This record gives sequence, C-alpha cells and structure tokens, in this order.
Amino acid sequence: MSWSSPGGPGHTRGDGAVSAHAPAKVNVSLAVGPLREDGFHDLQTVYLAVSLLDTVTVRRGEGLSVTVTGEGAGGPDPVPTDRRNLVWRAAELLAEHAGVAPDAAIAVDKAIPAAAGLAGGSADAAAALVALDALWGTHATRGDLTGLAAQLGSDVPFCLAGGVALGSGRGERLTPVLARRPWYWVLGIADGGLSTPAVYAELDRLRAEGRLPDGTAFPSPEPVVAALRSGPVEALAAALTNDLQAPAVSLRPALRRALRGATGAGAAAAVVSGSGPTVAALAADEDAAVRLAAVLAGEGLFRTVRVVHGPVPGARLVG
Ligand code: C5P
Repeated sequence: MSWSSPGGPGHTRGDGAVSAHAPAKVNVSLAVGPLREDGFHDLQTVYLAVSLLDTVTVRRGEGLSVTVTGEGAGGPDPVPTDRRNLVWRAAELLAEHAGVAPDAAIAVDKAIPAAAGLAGGSADAAAALVALDALWGTHATRGDLTGLAAQLGSDVPFCLAGGVALGSGRGERLTPVLARRPWYWVLGIADGGLSTPAVYAELDRLRAEGRLPDGTAFPSPEPVVAALRSGPVEALAAALTNDLQAPAVSLRPALRRALRGATGAGAAAAVVSGSGPTVAALAADEDAAVRLAAVLAGEGLFRTVRVVHGPVPGARLVG
C-alpha cells in the first residue's frame, strides 16, 4: 500500500482551493460476527478499493459549510449538507486534533452513490481529511489521520489507505494484502439505498430466528487473499462471500433477481457489495466487463451500471 504524505502549500491552487479524491470499496469477502455490546459487529473482510472516485475540494472560509453535487445531490432524500455529513465531522475532528479553527468551505462532488454499500460517505470523509490537512497546513502524520478516520466510521481508514486490505475489528483494523493484477467489475447500482444499521439489524434478526448461522466462527480469508493475489478469475469468483447479502436480500427482495441477472449475463460471479444494494459483478477482464455492462444496462435491472477496476490508491491530493 502506498501513501503520499499530504502536501503543504504546494498543493494549493491559485484560487486557494485544495482537492482530494477517494475511492469506493467493494467487500470481496465479508464475514460478520455476533452483535457486540457497543452496537457494532466484529467482522473479517477483504476490502478492495475501486476506480469510482469522489472529489472533495476545500477552500478557506469562515466557519464550516458543505455543498454536494453529483450522485445523491437533490432528489427526495439528498445527501445532507450539515453536521450529519461525515465531511463536516471530519473537519471538526481534524481541527480539534490540530488545534486550529474549523474554517472551511467544503465542496463534495460525488460519483459514488450514497447508501449503496460502496462506502461513499466514508470516501468523502477520507478525502476531506487529506484535503483539509493540506489547506490548513496541519501536517498530520499517516498514523494521526488513520486514528481520526477510525473515529469517523468503520470504513474510513480503508478509504484513506486504498489498495487491498484485510479488515478486522469493526473494519477499522487493516492489514495490507498484495494483488498483482487489476480486477474488473461491473457495479449494478439500484434505485434507492439501504440503511447500513438496518441491514445489520436484519442479520441479527434472521440469526435470532435461527434462519442464518450465528457467525461465531470466521472462515479463513486465505482463499480470497490467494485468489486476489494471482487469480485465476474462477478462484476469485468461487471465493466471493458476504454475510450481509442475505439480510440485504430480505429487505430488498428485488436483489435476488438482480444477482441472478448478473450471473445470467455472463459475470464470473456476483455478490452484494457491503450492506448493499449495489451488486458487484466480477468479470474475467476489461473487455468482458464492458460487454457485461452493456447487457446489464439493456436489461434494466439497475438504475445505472459502472465498469470499475481495482485495486486503486486511497485518498490523495489531486494535482
Ligand atoms: O462505522 P459506521 O458508522 O459506518 O457504522 C454504521 C452502522 O453500521 C453502525 O452504527 C452499526 O449499526 C453498523 N455496523 C456494525 N458493525 C460494523 C460496522 C457497522 O454493526 N462492524
């Protein structure tokens, strides 16, 4: 995993703006343990950062303000532009850590759909930390930023790190994993999101009713890690798992048809990404991914489809 130290004034453009990108993630495997006393679940996941990027641009301002454009701006349930937005909390946390005033105008341009199981909000928070560190010249270390990221959300440290990583704890503890080749996916993006806490709660409910295994033993992540490292695609296809898929399908039964549609259209395998409802369909190579996306777009199973590849780097300054 590589990390470029956030820059200082060298990254500030003529108009005083600083931009950072951060990637969406797919959980190539996700095993979820029982509910903990703090309301979270221990998990064991293999995260893959993919080439769907949000951009966060920050400028000096008085107090904090957030604007959102792109995916999830407007509509009946828009991405919030107040303290409920994770970039707001990221700014407050970094300012407090560095002992500076939290003054910034933050513009979030979203390509990653919200509430889609792709860590879009977490990516924005990671990008905001990197951009604001450069704007304010706070020179936080990688360790500092990772610690702040873990306070913001379970997936934020991974969006900061990027690449491929084994995640444990509630997802915030990371061990880098090697992938020697890019992997191509088609993301099938649904109309309407799913609430992450609701999907975890549905998992707990299905387990309490004995309809799903209790999750007390994690399978070895080794088959996923080995397949990601060097393939072949069939090995990775066979290793895709997600304990949140059954509860996501339970809350959104149309997902069953979407998953079947993706494999029927030629995906090597298809799995719900994180808490869903995005379907991550694995393709053998880039050409196969483009063909698969065309078929899926024609079938109308999804609001939109995106061809992505990964691993890609984590949050980093643009320019
Ligand atoms: O960490 P984050 O804020 O993204 O988590 C959102 C919600 O997802 C938590 O409040 C919790 O309900 C659920 N969650 C969980 N176990 C995890 C991660 C998230 O139960 N490991």
